Amino acid sequence: MNQSISNNPDSKSVHLLHRLYALQQQHLCISSESMQQVANEFCLPVSQVTAVVEFYTFFSRGPCGRYHLLLSNCTSCGYLVGGENFLLQFTQALDVSPGETRSDGLVSLGETSCIGMCDHGSAMLVNGMPLILHNADRVNHIAQLINAKTSLADWPAEWFQVHESVNKKGLLLNQNFIPGLSLKNTLAQGANEMLETILASGLRGRGGAGFSTGQKWQFCRQAEGAGHYVVCNADEGEPGTFKDRLLLRQHAESMLEGMTLCAFIIGAERGFIYLRGEYRFLLSDLQTVLAAYRRAGLLGQRILGKEDFDFDIEIVVGAGAYICGEESALIESLEGKPGIPRIRPPFPVTHGYLNQPTVVNNVETFVAAAHIAVHGSAWFKTMGTTQSAGSKILSVSGDCELPGVYEYPFGVSVQQVLQDCQASDAQAVQIGGPAGVLIGKQDFDRQIAFEDLSTGGSFMVFGVHRDLLTINRNFASFFAHESCGFCTPCRVGTQLLKNNLDKIAEGRGTRQDIVEIKRLSELIQRYSHCGLGHTAAHHVIDGLQRFPQVFEENLTQQSFMSPFDLDKTLEEARQITQRDDAAAHLK
Ligand SMILES: Cc1cc2nc3c(=O)[nH]c(=O)nc-3n(C[C@H](O)[C@H](O)[C@H](O)COP(=O)(O)O)c2cc1C
Ligand code: SF4
Repeated sequence: MNQSISNNPDSKSVHLLHRLYALQQQHLCISSESMQQVANEFCLPVSQVTAVVEFYTFFSRGPCGRYHLLLSNCTSCGYLVGGENFLLQFTQALDVSPGETRSDGLVSLGETSCIGMCDHGSAMLVNGMPLILHNADRVNHIAQLINAKTSLADWPAEWFQVHESVNKKGLLLNQNFIPGLSLKNTLAQGANEMLETILASGLRGRGGAGFSTGQKWQFCRQAEGAGHYVVCNADEGEPGTFKDRLLLRQHAESMLEGMTLCAFIIGAERGFIYLRGEYRFLLSDLQTVLAAYRRAGLLGQRILGKEDFDFDIEIVVGAGAYICGEESALIESLEGKPGIPRIRPPFPVTHGYLNQPTVVNNVETFVAAAHIAVHGSAWFKTMGTTQSAGSKILSVSGDCELPGVYEYPFGVSVQQVLQDCQASDAQAVQIGGPAGVLIGKQDFDRQIAFEDLSTGGSFMVFGVHRDLLTINRNFASFFAHESCGFCTPCRVGTQLLKNNLDKIAEGRGTRQDIVEIKRLSELIQRYSHCGLGHTAAHHVIDGLQRFPQVFEENLTQQSFMSPFDLDKTLEEARQITQRDDAAAHLK
């Protein structure tokens, strides 16, 4: 059997997602023959390989171009930010439609969800590499380079440079982290006492839900299983979030140590970093840090010389699916399957990776845990509120002068953040991404904290010039696109919600549509299977409650209007019959 062959996702061989990625790179698509070949190699049914290929955005069955352009459609790093339509410009300059590959096979063009470059403005992925679009001149320059078949290596390097703007450091980012110290402290204290320290610190998960980290580790430690696992959730897919990008680039050591001390506490020998596909450009630097840690005896066998303390970490790179940030979908993906969320309970702490006890934590949570292991729980609790100890690292983007990363003690007001990022004309802020909360001026004195405005890190500012209905439509499209399709309320409901918002924006909305939006929102929220569905209508519910005028002023009709434009639908028939007189129109 070949080294890479395995039907067991627990083996240390090539991961299915990585094998498929290599095929995609090599052939610009994954053909039926390739899927059959991979199925044979991995001893999997071809139906499973096909399901995986079809699930992830970065795999395609049809051929992509040699230059594959995916423009972000996020409200902060999307192709419309800055007032120009870069997608349209590419369409014209390259003579290719969105979603298609040019007939000569040279270039393909498409859209993708937020790529985590919101502090840089409009951005896209070129063959998976982030590129900052900047302005229309750059679009034309890119088109010229593509038409001249210029190798990506010869494109201006600065276009690919991702800068980290850390505009405010706090409890964690200010610390000078000494490699190995958190692990030495952990070994000195022992697993029980270090778990007590994490519990006493009041640390809560930074990925959004805010579950007690100490309790999660305790449940996992108590769970029986053949092996325990530690997973770092570096999927960072919530639009408007990029703080984990900074942590992965500049604070990887503390993240690794947070994972390792967690492993010591729960008794794990294996860990994973699930890195979002959009952050593949971070992979080699992360591998370098892992290698350095192994050389220093801080990862691998007998860590710091301690008998029976073996733990190692591998990185699995995703392939473009927001839902894989949800912990059970992430675990499915780690197991080489489509990222469809599991039914919970049971929770990952008892039945996670390979059905074994598994801790899944956000990057920032592990970073915080390592610092707590160094400085203690009392130090951590010097900041924050009673229910939200410590600090929160925010990704600030949108209509402000100073987008970037900001770290604050929990309890900071929205107004303070707006002042610091120089957002002088904000009419609204979306906190926690499209799945979070949309607030207006009357709420700017509220606090960022689990007990008030909870966020995984996304803080998007919308200035007075922004059309909030367009923002709602963008978010609705995002959820309709990212719904994994497993359950009907979410799969159908998110699409219907999007259609209703489109109808209102097109000037055909009625009061009945508002009623319908509210009914649909409740249905999606209540009956969906996972957190994506539970939160997918938040933005529109908030919009209707806090900015009703945005919807009201777009309602041009009071009576019933069909969900589609009948007259527009007849356009094709008019063209065929070459008629455009009044009788050929319904109006
Ligand atoms: C649709 C969806 C997407 C999510 N995306 C992320 C993500 O990108 N990163 C993350 O840490 N948590 C994400 N979460 C939350 C995770 O399911 C999980 O709660 C988290 O990783 C636990 O870590 P924590 O306790 O450290 O926050 C997402 C949840 C949902 C429902
Ligand atoms: S709620 Fe949406 S994302 Fe979650 S399982 Fe159902 S269809 Fe999939």
